[in-house]
Amino acid sequence: MPHYLVTGGAGFIGSHLVEELARRGESIRVVDDLSTGKRHNIAHVPSVELIEGDLAEMDVARRAVHGIDYVLHQAAIPSVPRSVENPITSNRANIDASLNILVAARDAGVKRLVYAGSSSAYGDTPTLPKVETMASAPLSPYALQKLVAEQYCRMFTDLYGLETATIRYFNVFGPRQDPSSPYSGVISLFISALCAGRQPTIYGDGEHTRDFTYVANVVDGALRACTAERAGGEVINVATGGRTSLNTLFKTLRDLVGAKVDPIYAEPRAGDVKDSQADISKARRLLGYQPIVNLEEGLAKTVAWYRATQVTTA
Ligand code: UD1
Repeated sequence: MPHYLVTGGAGFIGSHLVEELARRGESIRVVDDLSTGKRHNIAHVPSVELIEGDLAEMDVARRAVHGIDYVLHQAAIPSVPRSVENPITSNRANIDASLNILVAARDAGVKRLVYAGSSSAYGDTPTLPKVETMASAPLSPYALQKLVAEQYCRMFTDLYGLETATIRYFNVFGPRQDPSSPYSGVISLFISALCAGRQPTIYGDGEHTRDFTYVANVVDGALRACTAERAGGEVINVATGGRTSLNTLFKTLRDLVGAKVDPIYAEPRAGDVKDSQADISKARRLLGYQPIVNLEEGLAKTVAWYRATQVTTA
């Protein structure tokens, strides 16, 4: 039976990967420093081995990959504004730790490392949708760090023969996304505010667009990338292929929650990209991927989860 390592496996996307791997009966190890991840995100999944530690420390990376076949490298400090405020901390988590896990995976003979890349790598180039062959133009330390780590992955394939694949995620949302920080993903912030009867804040005029992607889709894409024959060394968008403005998102969520509030409009955020939308033809071609949960269905599932668990911002 292949052994899977999920770095950041106690976090939002990582815990969904763990859940799906467990459903498939796979053997799973998680490494997480529990800085944003939570033990209880995976407490319901039986027989997961958890190493609590910081991958920016090499010995933690080496312990984590020992005996592993596939690494799903999700661990990161995933926030544009947080990286703008503290580029050094996010650099350590997003680049130093990634280089360590690559070196450790190379030395341990890992079969493939699948890296959680980001749509932010495209930056504000005007052409939509974003195709993997486009030049990158990172606008924030976070975007640059994600791009550097993805290039390290490609380089490790070329230099050392370690198979890697980068999945570029586009604005992932779903259950267990933590709304408790101002840096949280916009959907978690909007839902928790609306459920509490508070007014969400929209940065800018609300006409920024994103390819909001329900978490089950990226879980499917990332797991396909572990074994898909032609994914080795590639960078692949995984998203829905659509785009939705923040104004439309707000109205849809307000209707779903049944709230009566209006948004507050504030200055646009530094480092923000205006529009983002993925071309997913490469994922279809190389991974046999297609979105399994559309935006409306994903938003309804997410609202239902926040309601059931009564998660609100601190
Ligand atoms: C970016 C990346 C995404 C990555 C994520 C990690 C792009 C296009 N996307 O997401 O791939 O996974 O970082 O965090 O770069 N907003 C509000 N009100 C709020 C919060 C946010 O209006 O309370 C707006 C933001 O200004 C932005 C949009 O919502 O325009 C999405 O913001 P957010 O959810 O933080 O994600 P991105 O920064 O787009």
